[in-house]
Amino acid sequence: MSRKRVGILISGRGSNMAALIEAAQGKDYPAEIVLVASNRPDAGGLQTARAAGITTAVVDHTNYGKDRAGFERALQAVLEKHRIDIVCLAGFMRLLTPWLVGQWPNRMLNIHPALLPAFKGLDTHRRALEAGVKIHGATVHFVVPEMDSGPIVAQGALAVRDDDSEESLAARVIRIEHRIYPLALQLVAEGRVGVAGGRCRIAGAPMTDEVFLVPRAPA
Ligand code: GRF
Repeated sequence: MSRKRVGILISGRGSNMAALIEAAQGKDYPAEIVLVASNRPDAGGLQTARAAGITTAVVDHTNYGKDRAGFERALQAVLEKHRIDIVCLAGFMRLLTPWLVGQWPNRMLNIHPALLPAFKGLDTHRRALEAGVKIHGATVHFVVPEMDSGPIVAQGALAVRDDDSEESLAARVIRIEHRIYPLALQLVAEGRVGVAGGRCRIAGAPMTDEVFLVPRAPA
């Protein structure tokens, strides 16, 4: 089976992008990263991608002013030019209109630093700490027009510690992100993820046991 052609959209440092690039170097990985595109010319991840020998593109949204449709048409043209099969958003900080999302039904993934549907939007780690949740994590989901919604492909969780700061929590969550994003892309590229009724069903995946994260009783 030929490998799926993946385009990654970034706006920043691109550590998830780097994790996807590394995974795709595996000889049995079902996808290849053929393009990294950014809306920001100064995104640090562009350098990382180039160093890995991957074609990069910049579609600078500031050149389009309020013309969001024009920006998205330009982005879509770049994706089509590179014959992209699957798009991975990885810290891409532009909200997409239903038009662009509609070009990629069940073929556009996003990673979000929280256990959706909890903590959509920004500042997820601070809000998780404020809410006092004991379990936090990250989610890979298909993109739908509504922000941080869409069928969930994979999640990873961790226990929140009493002494966690926003920074310490972020540092542990990002490690989870780097594990679940390559896994989710693999499942999608292998055609094992079906969507019905807004939910993903993964064909051929072993069922994972329940995980309980509870405070340990004091000695
Ligand atoms: C990640 O936390 C991701 O979940 C969120 O934006 C951040 C991007 O980080 N969508 P990086 O650019 O992949 O390092």
